[in-house]
Amino acid sequence: MSEIGVLGAGTWGMALARMLCNSGHGVMVWSALEREIDEYSSTRRHPNLPGMVIPDGVRFTKEIREAVTDKDIVLFAVPSVFVRSTAAKAAAFIPEGQIIVDVAKGIEPDTLYTLTEVIADELRRNGRGGNVRLVALSGPTHAEEVARDMPTTIVSAGEDMRAARFVQDVFMNTCMRVYTNPDVKGVELCGALKNIIALAAGMARGLGYGDNTKAALITRGMAEITRLGLAMGCQETTFYGLAGIGDLVVTATSVHSRNNRAGELIGQGMSPEEAVKKVGMVVEGINALPAAMEMADACLVQMPIVSGVNRIIREGADPNKVVRELMEREKKPERY
Ligand SMILES: NC(=O)c1ccc[n+]([C@@H]2O[C@H](COP(=O)([O-])OP(=O)(O)OC[C@H]3O[C@@H](n4cnc5c(N)ncnc54)[C@H](O)[C@@H]3O)[C@@H](O)[C@H]2O)c1
Repeated sequence: MSEIGVLGAGTWGMALARMLCNSGHGVMVWSALEREIDEYSSTRRHPNLPGMVIPDGVRFTKEIREAVTDKDIVLFAVPSVFVRSTAAKAAAFIPEGQIIVDVAKGIEPDTLYTLTEVIADELRRNGRGGNVRLVALSGPTHAEEVARDMPTTIVSAGEDMRAARFVQDVFMNTCMRVYTNPDVKGVELCGALKNIIALAAGMARGLGYGDNTKAALITRGMAEITRLGLAMGCQETTFYGLAGIGDLVVTATSVHSRNNRAGELIGQGMSPEEAVKKVGMVVEGINALPAAMEMADACLVQMPIVSGVNRIIREGADPNKVVRELMEREKKPERY
């Protein structure tokens, strides 16, 4: 059995902490918000996962040093915007060769780094992490369902396949089936970009459109993500797999998706700021927009749906006008 330090006590961190503890692993959770540690260690409940009981075996700490020291795996489960600052706090305590797993989904806007790249960069800046082994764990996995032991699949992706397989063994159980993939960049791109397409699917529903529109957005959205991924040297098969189309389907169709829900509220006329406030949890698709636009420009790749969402969210364009323009835009020979 392994020892796992979980950084972040949001819905995903806590659903995974429970699952890993129930599989017999030692689990210690750290949060930057001390009140969460006080609350969850005494109530054994998480406000956004009603019905889930946090097992007594899950330990909590306010000291990041304690969460990171002597662990087989350090799990980054904070929202993407906090990955760099969390890596900076943890850096001094990360030993050589540490396996680090990132489950957050996003791209850093300033650097265009994926989140395992952000962690590696921040450890390097702090003079640490020479040979840490980084793994991205990503797929169609809503915390709400993992918290209820519903059958779920996920991809453990890393350049170091021994580390990816170790993570596969640790996370695999009767409710979670784990696949491996060496294309870590492709897996991370899928995880970040599908949230933007989920926003679009939500907007379409908010505007009163139906299943035809949703299917179009999922299919053409995946085509855009794949085009960008191929231009960046990723493997085409990654985009057809669980971390690609699998995660896009769940995020664009599920009632649990905050991106989908936020999109629906925006489609109904709410401002992006109001929608994020109403959803009350991180909406990673909005965070990913600046990086997605920059990457598309840099790679000379057309991403009309992503651009449309960007115009609505960041430039205040009218969603109905954007839909009209998407439908009527010039025909182009495309590969997908
Ligand atoms: N929820 C899911 O179903 C799910 C599934 C797969 C991946 N993810 C990804 O996991 C990441 C976390 O998602 P979540 O659902 O747990 O989000 P969340 O909104 O529930 O997370 C909020 C948590 O972030 C932490 N936090 C707040 N301020 C912080 C700070 N200043 N520094 C460090 N940490 C801070 C706190 O522990 C807080 O509870 C996201 O990137 C998300 O895309 C989520």
